[in-house]
Amino acid sequence: MDHADPMTTVPLNGLSLELNSPIDPGRLDRIVADLARSEPQRVLDVGCGWAEVLLRMLAAVPGATGVGVDLEQVDLDRGRKNAELRGLTDRVELRAADAKTLTGTYDLVLCVGAQHALADDPGRALSALRGLTAAGGRLLFGIDYWLTVPPAERLEVMWGGATVEDSVLLPDVVAAAAAAGWRLLDLHEVSQSEWDAYECGLVRNQEEWLLDHADHPEAAALRRRLDDGRQQWLRGHHGYLGFAWLTLGALPGPTAA
Ligand SMILES: C[S@@+](CC[C@H](N)C(=O)[O-])C[C@H]1O[C@@H](n2cnc3c(N)ncnc32)[C@H](O)[C@@H]1O
Repeated sequence: MDHADPMTTVPLNGLSLELNSPIDPGRLDRIVADLARSEPQRVLDVGCGWAEVLLRMLAAVPGATGVGVDLEQVDLDRGRKNAELRGLTDRVELRAADAKTLTGTYDLVLCVGAQHALADDPGRALSALRGLTAAGGRLLFGIDYWLTVPPAERLEVMWGGATVEDSVLLPDVVAAAAAAGWRLLDLHEVSQSEWDAYECGLVRNQEEWLLDHADHPEAAALRRRLDDGRQQWLRGHHGYLGFAWLTLGALPGPTAA
């Protein structure tokens, strides 16, 4: 995804990020290397964004093929360009599709920060993901969770209309996974500094643009938007919302979905 003309247009956010979920990229590579040990041949990425996790997975497993689905054409185009740069074009298909229409089974399913694409309730999303995973297969599941249930005054300044029901506690995620036919193989909770790097990375290229275009007609509106977003983060979910990467193994037998 290229910047549009920086003289006339505010750039899209997220261009400074390697992927659209919180994690140190080096830690992601260690998770990918661990998943690669089972040599999955068919990989699905649900809500792939620009498919960074899928592309790293395919690079780590020679001969594996992958499908990524997302609704955002601009992100899919960014992923296709990255696939081309990494020589992966003939092993990956990035498809504009609603995750709820997916069928078939895969050796490895990736669903990172995208469970809402399948269901608002994590347990229902985990059941749907079990249905997309072959017996003995793996799921890499990235999900936000409450580190501590936030009090009303913090919820008030989070994203519009935030409620306690918007996320869950980590033990509840793991219990929901077990109920949906998964066993927990590995767990990485991101640190506060990984979250901070993600939040800053989301808007970094827009902040840089503002520094270079302080007198631009769109600058004042962008500055207000970024200031509001930063307050929602630092006075809202900062320190309350965690993010975990779970490696889950599918139990044999009939799928729960
Ligand atoms: C937080 S982003 C995570 C992207 C990617 N998994 C990553 O970690 O870089 C969530 C993604 O889910 C996608 N998404 C949301 N609803 C969807 C749906 N119904 N079908 C497919 N993708 C969806 C969004 O467009 C977005 O790219």
